[in-house]
Amino acid sequence: MKQRRALRKPINDDSVERVAPKRPYVLVTDAGHENPPFKRLDQPTGFLMDRISIRGGKILNGSIQISGAKNAALPLMIASLLTAKTLILRNVPRLADVNLLLRILRNHGVDMMVEGKRAKQDESVGETIHLSARSIVDTTAPYELVSRMRASFWVLGPLLARCSEAKVSLPGGCAIGTRPVDLHLMALEQLGANIEIEGGYVVARAPKGLRGNRIVFPKVSVGATHNALMASTLARGETIIENAAREPEISDVAECLNKMGARVSGIGSSTLQIQGVEELGGADHMVLADRIETGTYAMAAAITGGDVLLKGARADHLDAMLLALRQAGVKVEADGSGLRISRNGNRLYPINIETLPYPGFPTDLQAQLMALMTMADGVSTIRETIFENRFMHVQELARLGADIALAGDTAHVRGVDKLMGAQVMATDLRASVSLVIAGLAAEGETVLHRVYHLDRGFETLEAKLQACGASVERLTAG
Ligand code: UD1
Repeated sequence: MKQRRALRKPINDDSVERVAPKRPYVLVTDAGHENPPFKRLDQPTGFLMDRISIRGGKILNGSIQISGAKNAALPLMIASLLTAKTLILRNVPRLADVNLLLRILRNHGVDMMVEGKRAKQDESVGETIHLSARSIVDTTAPYELVSRMRASFWVLGPLLARCSEAKVSLPGGCAIGTRPVDLHLMALEQLGANIEIEGGYVVARAPKGLRGNRIVFPKVSVGATHNALMASTLARGETIIENAAREPEISDVAECLNKMGARVSGIGSSTLQIQGVEELGGADHMVLADRIETGTYAMAAAITGGDVLLKGARADHLDAMLLALRQAGVKVEADGSGLRISRNGNRLYPINIETLPYPGFPTDLQAQLMALMTMADGVSTIRETIFENRFMHVQELARLGADIALAGDTAHVRGVDKLMGAQVMATDLRASVSLVIAGLAAEGETVLHRVYHLDRGFETLEAKLQACGASVERLTAG
């Protein structure tokens, strides 16, 4: 039976703190911080004041294990709200965003167990997490948690589908544009929900349960597709989602939902058909490899003129990015074990790209590609069509000596002979890693501030780069 009524429980800060990471991931401004004494650590800590020091000029050589995809792990974890049975997720990356979502899910009543280390376990493989939402004890997702990570807004659809009501704070997340949620709300309304905005919260109710319908998105949205897909698995009758996002992470979630007993077809296409079922069961699912992390290390290898094997990478999820790299003169070889990226001293050619929904060039790799193009032999144009404010890395790249002119949604990047190390500030998740890439090629030391942005989405970044010969280390406030 579906759980129609939910017990309301006030947020208990103590219970939230029990699952808090040892150090907080609270967003604070760096303004006014004095330079604290720094000590060097082998392990990253994720602490707010951490910085990353990069001594550029080392050629990357070696191999890097690609982690599970953050953008798949988060919705997969949220899918646990749809069932009273246990969902086992493997290869979950160790990230601040994952920890934050665990706190949010626990607040709804999800029991969780992270498998301990096994003898001879490969450290580079992610964690295995068991999630059991036997009963949902609270259908409210509070501002304090949701405002820190946009994807947590996606609990709305599953909570509504399972409990017939949900109250979720309007989201926050990376500051890369206005990022509205109108498409999420439209989709849930199409499924029969009544939605009101009250005091910064979306309050959704469907006392008689959701019912299948035709949802036509006027614009492609990854998050709205996730929300509609998850909600419709428990809706009565058939739902058709048209102009659905086709990102591999959506297919990964759809496949996991089917393992849980959902009836989703059209996976991988822009039209998803879902036959609603009365209830879902448990499943055991491996998170797919992170294509954005793959692309990031591919750019890092390319900018240093190195030769790196990206183990476990899925070339079939990166066609647009690999085409761009090839056009830039980078050698790309795919085999069963992953992707080998090399540029052994070859010239770097300028390229022109625009970001697009999958299978187009991903907006999440735009900043990294721009970092690479700062060293190309000529002028590249990079047009951002997904988010209107996603050029915050430009002024930081300029601090390293990059020559970039912005004209509306387009950046003109004139390659320079060399970049010079400097102090730079991370502004969002992907922008911060573009500064690491540029720092790897810059002469002298680059110090990246606000590393907490990086910790949201890149697992053991320093260790992975160090293993390929990069001089990268975390400076942590002591
Ligand atoms: C997801 C990814 C993010 C990626 C983005 C685009 C996760 C956790 N995050 O974010 O890394 O950069 O896809 O590939 O998977 N929009 C609306 N109304 C809405 C929703 C979105 O207008 O209701 C707009 C957005 O402002 C943006 C565009 O649609 O211009 C795409 O956003 P969307 O695909 O929804 O991004 P996210 O799901 O937030």
